[in-house]
Amino acid sequence: MKIVRALNGHIEIQKPIWIMRQAGRYLPEYRALRKKSPNFMDFCLNPEMVVEATLQPIVRFDFDAAIIFSDILVIPHFLGQSVHFKEGVGPILERANWQELLQTPTQEDIHIIYESIKNVRRELDSQKALIGFVGCPWTIASYMIREGKTNSFEGLVTHAKTWPLFNKLMDKLTTVISDHAVRQLRSGANVVQLFESWASAVPAELQQMWLFEPAEKIIRQIQKQVPGANVIYYGKGIAGQAIKNLQHLGVGFGVSQDTRLSSLKDTSVCLQGNLDPQKLLDGNFRGDVLNILEFSKDRPFIVNLGHGILPETPVSHVEGFVDLVRSRQ
Ligand code: CP3
Repeated sequence: MKIVRALNGHIEIQKPIWIMRQAGRYLPEYRALRKKSPNFMDFCLNPEMVVEATLQPIVRFDFDAAIIFSDILVIPHFLGQSVHFKEGVGPILERANWQELLQTPTQEDIHIIYESIKNVRRELDSQKALIGFVGCPWTIASYMIREGKTNSFEGLVTHAKTWPLFNKLMDKLTTVISDHAVRQLRSGANVVQLFESWASAVPAELQQMWLFEPAEKIIRQIQKQVPGANVIYYGKGIAGQAIKNLQHLGVGFGVSQDTRLSSLKDTSVCLQGNLDPQKLLDGNFRGDVLNILEFSKDRPFIVNLGHGILPETPVSHVEGFVDLVRSRQ
């Protein structure tokens, strides 16, 4: 598996490629499938639909990896805080009974996700990696503590700092997220990616406590339970600091489009990503892709976007991107 080799330090001439959010609304076949299940959480927990949605981008683009179709917000769902997705608004999480939520274990129905992983692994070409994933505690908590409010992040850090049970919630999430990652790997995922999508909302003086300490605990737990596990840490907007703080753990790092690859030129860790999703949407990505390929020619690297693909992206642009990367022999 090319991606696993890259994460273990191999320098491939033709870089492996996959795309964050590759199974999703930019694909007409995804939109057709999704129509059959109007409730997004039901869709994530329907094993047949999950297998189909996971494999759709592989059938179309022959990516080097499939990512299991799911969501980072299955964790609050299985802790008993209900999650709704409102068209054009995003996720809305209901007010929770926090004392209860902090004391109860994750509902066992979460095993549906592990069954789906087993089923996908059986159907997927043995040369292609299956990526499992989790959201990191801060990113998940930032949705949970907004309780019914929508997508405004204004005042979130102050809210978190003054929220009486915030530290307890972060500890609980660290434990259940570690467990979810381990169970995905044990079910057949070859790699696990940690998403800290709201990392840049955290002020510098809180990064250790809210981002890197929980991430280190999760990664160490994964490595203890699954020796040799392949892990990618994606912290949007903070790749440089993440590498400084976590590189001793031997994991790969996602790089969003707001970080210059040249600022990371001295690192030897496996990097992933960096192409601006807006450029893929607009179609003016050729120069940037060639720069990424030039930067990565002597290092372990996974080609990807810097963040998730935008829903309006034409399928033909994705084809052009893959062809360009694969034309490099
Ligand atoms: O293809 C894949 O990457 C696999 C599936 C996947 C989804 N969500 C499916 C999804 C993955 C890896 C995620 C991760 C996720 N979910 C993140 C971290 C990655 C990132 O992009 O920052 C976050 C922050 C979420 C939370 C979430 N889920 C939001 C904010 C939304 C609504 C807005 C949006 O991006 O669509 C979702 C819903 C969601 N998750 C959809 C999909 C395909 C769209 C739902 C639909 O079909 O209407």
